Amino acid sequence: MKEKIIIGNQKNYMTVKDVAVFLEEIKHKLDSNNVIICPSNIYLPYYLKKGFKVGLQNIAPTDDNAYTGEITSKQAKHIGVEYVIVGHSERRSHFNENSAVIESKLKTALNSGLIPILCVGETLEEKNTFQTKTVLTNQLLHSLSGINHVDKLIIAYEPVWAIGTNITPTNDEIKQNILMIREIVKEHSFIQNLIILYGGSVSSHNIDELKQIEQIDGFLVGKASIEATGFLTLIDVLKNNE
Ligand code: PGA
Repeated sequence: MKEKIIIGNQKNYMTVKDVAVFLEEIKHKLDSNNVIICPSNIYLPYYLKKGFKVGLQNIAPTDDNAYTGEITSKQAKHIGVEYVIVGHSERRSHFNENSAVIESKLKTALNSGLIPILCVGETLEEKNTFQTKTVLTNQLLHSLSGINHVDKLIIAYEPVWAIGTNITPTNDEIKQNILMIREIVKEHSFIQNLIILYGGSVSSHNIDELKQIEQIDGFLVGKASIEATGFLTLIDVLKNNE
C-alpha cells in the first residue's frame, strides 16, 4: 500500500517558542518524506532550515498586483515552499473567498509550480438538509473550471462541521463523499490518480479508525499537528499500516 500523505495545518496556533520546542522534539524522529508542514508564514524559514517539506496556508490570488499583507506563489517557490492550501473553510467563511478567487489562487499556484491542496466540504446545515452533493459539486466544478492540470493538485475533503470539533463523520460517510468527489472531478477531466485527503479532527486518538478507509490518500491535520508527540504517533500509525 502507498504511504499516506500527512499535511499539518498549524494555522496561527503557535508562538516562536512553541515552534522551537516542536522542531526540537520532532527533527530527529521524522523519517517520512510524506509529511508536509504548513506553519504560519513567519515561521517558514525555521522549518525550511531543518529540511521539512513545507506549504503555505494561503496565497495571493495573482502574482502581478500589489497586495499588502499577502505572499505570492513566486515568492514562496523561490524560498523552497512546495505546497499551498487553497480554499480552506476558514478562509471561505472569514475572508469571503468564493470560487472565482479560489480558481485564481489555484492558477497562480500551479503556474509557479506549487502543488495546491484544494479544500472542499459541507457545513452541518448543508449536511442535514442533504445538500452535500450539490455543495461539493459547486465548490469543485466552479473553482476548477479554468484549470487544465487538475492532476497536479491535491483535494482535501474537510466537512466544515468536523473542523476543530473533535467530531468526525463515520468511515462510511467519508468513503461515500470521497467517491463522490472522484466522480465529480471526472466530470471536469478524467484523472486516474487524483489524490484525496480527509481533514477534520484527525488525531492520534482516531487515526486507527480513519486509516481503515482505503479510499483516503492521506490526512490534513489541524490542531493535532502542533504537538510533536501526538503528531509523531499519528505518522507512526500510518507508517505501520503500509
Ligand atoms: P482540525 O483542523 O484537525 O483541528 O480539525 C483541520 C483543518 O482545519 O484543516
